[in-house]
Formats: sequence, structure tokens, C-alpha cells
Amino acid sequence: MNASNRRGVLQLQHILWFSFLLWGVVSVISNIRALKYDTAAISRALSLSGENQVRDKLPSVACFFMIRKTSLTEATSVRYSNWGKRCTYFVIFSNGVAGGEQLLDGNTALVDIHHAIEDEFRERAGNAEAELKFASVLEAAEYSTYTTFPTDQNEIKDYLALKSFYSWMYMARKYSDRVDYVMKADPDTYMLMDNYLDYLSEYYSPMHPVYIGRVFKTDGNINDPFVTGLSTTLSKATLKLLLSRSTIRSDHDGNPECSAQRFRLGREADDHALAQCLRSMGVYPAYTRDEFGREMFLHFSPSQHYNGGDKEPKWHLNFSFTPYSHKKGCCSSKACAFHYVDIEKQNATLYWSDFTHAWHWKRNG
Ligand SMILES: *[C@@H]1O[C@H](CO)[C@@H](O)[C@H](O)[C@H]1NC(C)=O
Ligand SMILES: *[C@@H]1O[C@H](CO)[C@@H](O)[C@H](O)[C@H]1NC(C)=O
Repeated sequence: MNASNRRGVLQLQHILWFSFLLWGVVSVISNIRALKYDTAAISRALSLSGENQVRDKLPSVACFFMIRKTSLTEATSVRYSNWGKRCTYFVIFSNGVAGGEQLLDGNTALVDIHHAIEDEFRERAGNAEAELKFASVLEAAEYSTYTTFPTDQNEIKDYLALKSFYSWMYMARKYSDRVDYVMKADPDTYMLMDNYLDYLSEYYSPMHPVYIGRVFKTDGNINDPFVTGLSTTLSKATLKLLLSRSTIRSDHDGNPECSAQRFRLGREADDHALAQCLRSMGVYPAYTRDEFGREMFLHFSPSQHYNGGDKEPKWHLNFSFTPYSHKKGCCSSKACAFHYVDIEKQNATLYWSDFTHAWHWKRNG
């Protein structure tokens, strides 16, 4: 090859590289433009024949709340609200439930947290002796801090993670064979059940280790993600995994991260304790944004998202993977959940407006 040929080849290479770069830049720009202005076009491009497919039967979900006794009436009325009714089973874990357990109807139970703990020990009967052998009196005293629970009068937020350990265990034992998913919510969570069940059936399978909801990072650490307590969903497969590896004491067979002892140390951060347990088994939160990057599980209420200012709360910067935005772009048009919704709104209906790109309450709802 002579020098001028070589120059020609080099020039050709440059041209090829340049066109490649240009193509890259143009497609990035057009994507950004599309993201901002033309969601409809992306929708069309992405409408992966999904709409024509006959959807499988919607999944079944057992839901639960963890509350203080004082919120019992409120929590019960949310169970019978428009969204709560869509849960196949519903358990409300409280403190001071007379008789330990009460059935409100065939699919709804009030369970005293002490009863859930006793149940867990009964289930572990074979291992109970091993659990109960102590090296010292000191250890025995510590043991009681995660195997007993205070009364309602003495219950403080500090015990929330411990409460969640026994509640998840109870749900996993009683329901993982009967439903596809178990979801923990708060009584001020508002679920859009059509969207939620569609989303589960379209993107997930109960036989996979599913762990979904709103994903946060911990104090800015992207390697420490967790699903927040407003709505946490685990699949049948994840629940089985949780059951098979959990333990009471952290030094026992099983996974120390998934022990009652470790959850007790999680104090009020029940959602984070669960994330650490699941992470130790290689189960991480799936990211639940829609195809335009909008969140599907919203941390605030629809009105806060729509009327709130532009200013991002400081803590939010540290915890959210997506930037805070109000009005347009805050929320998916297929949103599954909102938070901080008053009891008065729990039977009302939300609608999506293509005009404001936001969710609004129906006036007469
Ligand atoms: C919603 O309506 C149902 C049925 O009328 C009722 O039982 C329930 O208490 C209501 N819930 C709320 C939160 O108002
Ligand atoms: C944000 O995270 C950093 C540590 O990564 C911490 O020092 C700071 O206090 C956090 N700020 C807020 C407002 O939570």
C-alpha cells in the first residue's frame, strides 16, 4: 500500500467514525426531544403488540398493614375501600388485638403482633431448642429484645423493623402458597389497582424473585437501594427464599442478615432492613419507572406532586434516583401508588389528564 492509498483509507476511516458519532449524537438528541415532547410517538413505537395480546388472568395479592391499635378503625376502612377490596387477602398487624387473632371476614384478619411472634416460634418448633440455648445470662437478656414485643402503650417507632420481620414471616408462611404476591402498604397509601395488577402481570412473574415498589438509595449511596414502605411487593419466589433463609438469632443456621436479631437493629427503618436481608441473597429492587423514566410508585400525594413547588427537598436529593419534579414528568400515566393520601380520599377516584400530564381527583369522587 502506498502513502496516498493509506491516506485515503485513513480519511475513509475518519469519515466513517464521524458519521457514526453524528448518528449517535442525533439519536441521543432525538431521544431527549422525544422524552420531553413526544411521548405519544414513543408510545406508538413501543406498542409492542402488547395491547393485542390477551392478558393472562390478573395476579392475586395478599396485602398487609402494620399499625398501632389507635389506627385500627381507619386501617379497617381502607381495607374495604375501592383499592383495598382488590386485595385477595388482607391482614392488619396491630398490638392489643383481643384473642390474638380476629377474622373480619373470610379473607380479612386482624393479627396481634405477639400472636404472630408466638406463631413463628410454633412453626420453628423443631429448632426452638437450638434457638433457646444460651451461652450466658447476658445473651438471654438480649435474646428477649428481639423475641418479645412491647405492649401497645409501650410501643415506639423503634420497634417497627422488628414488627416487620414477624409480619413478613407470618405472611410468607400463610400466603405464599395461596397467592402470587404479598404487598405491604401503609393505611395512607393509595393504590391504583388496575395499573398495579396490569404492571405485575405484564412485567413480572411470581416464580421470579420479585422485589418492587418505589426505589430509594440510602444517603446517596447507589449501592444501597431499598424499596420504600409505601408499597413493597414480594413474589411467591421471594417469599419462599425469605422463609428458607431466615432465622431468629443472627448466629444461627440461615442468613444472619435475615434474622429477627438483625431486624431489631434496623429500628424504625423496616424497609431498609428488608432490603439488606434480600440483598444478602442477591435479590435487589427492580427499577419501577415507566418507559419515559417517570416514577410509577409516588412518594407524595397526587396534589403534592401537582401543586408542590419546584424546590427539591434536601433529603430527596440524597434518596431519590430520579430528580424531583412537580407537575409534568413527576408521575407515570400508569402510576401504581401514591402516598400521604388522607382517609377522606381513600374511596375517591383518580384520573389521568393528558392535558396537565398529571393525576387529579375526580371532583365528586
Ligand atoms: C369506602 O367505602 C366502603 C363501602 O361503602 C366503606 O366500607 C369504607 O369504610 C370506605 N372507606 C373509607 C376509607 O372511607
Ligand atoms: C446526604 O447524605 C450525606 C452522606 O452521603 C449526609 O452527610 C448528609 O447529611 C445527607 N443530607 C441529608 C439532607 O439527608
